[in-house]
This record gives sequence, C-alpha cells and structure tokens, in this order.
Amino acid sequence: MKTLYLSGEPNPRQLEFFLSRARHTAYGGARGGGKSWAMRRKLVMLALRYPELNILLLRRTLPELRENHIIPLRRELYGIADFNTTERVFDFPNRSRIKLGYCDSSGDVYQYQGQEYAVIGMEEATHFTEEQQQFLTTCNRTSKIGFTPRMYYTCNPGNVGHAWVKRLFIDREFREDEDPRDYLFIPARIWDNKALLRADPGYVNQLRALPEALRRAHLEGDWDVHAGQYFSEFSRDKHVVEPRGLPPWYRRFRSMDWGYNDPCCVLWHAVDPEGRVITYRELYLRQTRAEEVARLVCELSRGEEIAYTVASPDLWQNRGQMLRTAGGFEGETLAEIFIKSGLAVSPADNSRVAGWQRVRGYLADAPDGLPKWQCFSNCTNLIRTLPLLQYDLRDREDAAQGEDHAPEALRYGLMSRPQAPVPPKEIRKRAYDPLDLGVKHAGGYMSC
Ligand SMILES: Nc1ncnc2c1ncn2[C@@H]1O[C@H](COP(=O)(O)OP(=O)(O)O)[C@@H](O)[C@H]1O
Ligand SMILES: [Mg+2]
Repeated sequence: MKTLYLSGEPNPRQLEFFLSRARHTAYGGARGGGKSWAMRRKLVMLALRYPELNILLLRRTLPELRENHIIPLRRELYGIADFNTTERVFDFPNRSRIKLGYCDSSGDVYQYQGQEYAVIGMEEATHFTEEQQQFLTTCNRTSKIGFTPRMYYTCNPGNVGHAWVKRLFIDREFREDEDPRDYLFIPARIWDNKALLRADPGYVNQLRALPEALRRAHLEGDWDVHAGQYFSEFSRDKHVVEPRGLPPWYRRFRSMDWGYNDPCCVLWHAVDPEGRVITYRELYLRQTRAEEVARLVCELSRGEEIAYTVASPDLWQNRGQMLRTAGGFEGETLAEIFIKSGLAVSPADNSRVAGWQRVRGYLADAPDGLPKWQCFSNCTNLIRTLPLLQYDLRDREDAAQGEDHAPEALRYGLMSRPQAPVPPKEIRKRAYDPLDLGVKHAGGYMSC
C-alpha cells in the first residue's frame, strides 16, 4: 500500500483541534488560520485510524466544496483512497468512507435523512442555519462500538448561522437539553498559521484593508460585530414590549409563512389608534400538518375577531409529495386544506425587496417617538431571527435566505397594511374599526 505523505506540521491550535474528543468541536475566528486544512487532516486521520467509519464533510455550495476540499483531497489521497466522482465519496481500503456534500438550498440537508454518520464536519458552519445544524445532529450517530459520534465545525463570524455558533461556542448559553461539556471552541488566529504568513505575507494586509466591521470579524475573529446585518435598526429596547391586554376594537389580522420541514410561522397582529402594528402572538411549529396548524391557530384566536389571514403564496401551488406529507391529496392545494379546516387564508404579497422595505419603514419611529411596529416579548422566534437576517450577497437590496420564517411572516403581514401607518385624525376619532385604511385583504371573509 502507498504511504500517505502529507506536507505541513499542525500549529498548536490545529493540534488542539486534532486532540479534541468533545461531541461538538468548533475551530473558528479569523480567516486564514488554517481551519480548512485542519478539518481535512482530522477527517482523513479518523478514516485511516478507524475501519468502517462513515464520515460526512459539508460545505454550503458545490463550488466551495470543490475548491476547498475535493481538489486538495484528491491530490493528497491519490493512491490511498478511491474517489467516486458521481457520489463524491472517498473509499478507504479499511472500508471507511468520507462523503463530501453541500447544502445549497435550505432543504438540501434532508437528503441525509435516515443516514448515519459517525463524524460530521461542517465547514464554514456560520453559512448553515440552526435548523440545518440541528437536523444534521440527528444524523450524527453510529452503531460502531467504542466510537462516540462527533461533529467538527470551522467558522468565521457573520452570516446566517452567526447566532447559533456564537450562542453555543462563544457565549456558551445552553438550552436545557444541551450539555456544556459537549461544546469546545478553539479560536483561530491568522498569526498561528506560519505557513500562510510565509507563503503570502500580503494576505494580512488585505484583511487589514477591509472595512472596520469586516476587518474585526475576519482578521481579529471578533464575534460581536455582525457584518451584513439586514435590520441593524432593530432594537430589543425599542421594539419589544411586555405582553398586555389589547382593546378588543383594535383591528386584528394574522400572517403565515408556511413550512413543513422548515418551520411554519404564524403571527397575530393588532393595529392601535396611531396605526402602529403590534405583533402580539406567535406560533412556530415544525413538521405539523396543515389541518393541525389550522386547528391550533383557531384555538389560539378564540374570542378574537380576526379580519383576515395572509399566507405564503406557495400554498396555492400543487406540490405533490410535499402536499401528501403535510396531509393533503394529489390535486389539492394547501390553501384548500387550510380553508377546509376553518382557516380562511388569502395570498400574501410576496414582493421581497418592497416587503423588506416595508418592514424597515415600520421599524422606524412614528411622530410620537415610538416605533411604528412593536412586538410582544412572547414572540421569541421573531425576536431571535429578525436581527439575524443578513444581506444577500448576490442582491444587496434583498435579505439572504436563512432562518427567515418569522421575518417572512412579518413581511407578509406588513405588506397587507397601508404604507403610511399614521391615520388621519378624523378616522382616529371613530370608536370602532377605526383603521380600515384600504387594507388589501379586507375582502377576505371572516374565519376563526
Ligand atoms: N499546518 C499547516 N501546514 C502547512 N500549510 C498550512 C497549514 N495550515 C494551513 N496551511 C495552509 O494555509 C492556507 C490557509 O489555510 P486554510 O485552512 O485554508 O485557512 P482557513 O480555512 O482558516 O481560512 C492554505 O493554503 C493551507 O493549505
Ligand atoms: Mg477555510
């Protein structure tokens, strides 16, 4: 058998990464620190050390995967492991395998449903959403005795996964079902990577020349800056208020971003006499059939008069298999299922850029000094994900797709409202239904 020769000695941080036995190990911070190099080496060492080990290495897009891993690994493993181009798998003689995958769209992770990987490597983990990471964790298992499943992450600050990586590995704020001992973070510094500093001394200067926020994130590995944040004007102090009883005459409506594998988010809104929209309730569900969502929405709305419900326009498409999983029949649309189940829905205006602009408008202050939109602190997913929206790098006007289900529901809701939320004085004086200001969906018939 050919001897494996790999150039380069690990630097002390890379060595720490190699030696970690934690269930989740993240190596992150500055660019150029040698993270991808360490990830490749670690996975190859594991494949060689343990027979029949099933390993998955992921990046967000195929071009990145090819450049960063397929090309270097094919070079390094030539004569050591066979590469199956169609399946993108390296097969080792001891029957270990490294599968290389990518998750371009948010649902791509579900192709790994039912698969078992003893080791999963997530490259540039902040490019993945928390849903994707959580789903992948369910595939990280093995029936191999004597080997505990592990996940390895490399990451830079910023992007759609910034918040979950920061929460778990930097802030170490754990939920009840998470054991702090399972999470280890190793900071990456470009100064550790002597190989790069020698080969390309100008690289540090390129990072130094970046704008302030990007420089702090990419050169210094600072996790507090959040470059690319779409709604930097969102402020918990201003926009989030404690729940309180709202007068029954406030006009109420709902908005929904439908999802089955991705979360389904329903928001309840009320309009106060100033035209301010107050989002007062949120329902955030996963893998719940349409009838059940409709039932819960109606139950939660009991005793309230809801003028209309706008929902993602894709509910009016016939989505075959997707529809069957969600509880419908061939030829039926999800919208029909909702309506049949007592929740009358009308299609939301899905103009993305105009919609995000509308949200931005509502985040601004009204003449009374309070923002035109506020939400109750019980809308936890909306509060968590709205500030995490990132600019789409391909379209600087748009927000990137990430965990955007609650923000999308908000966008649909606000797009159903008039643009200028300050009502004329004479309308404000009316006691009942004071704000029927040309709402686009006012024609929608009453439902639960
Ligand atoms: N220990 C090492 N020995 C030799 N070269 C290394 C070593 N660590 C990293 N490199 C090289 O340094 C460069 C940057 O490393 P990379 O892993 O791509 O950084 P990062 O993923 O942190 O941005 C690459 O060319 C890589 O091959
Ligand atoms: Mg890298």
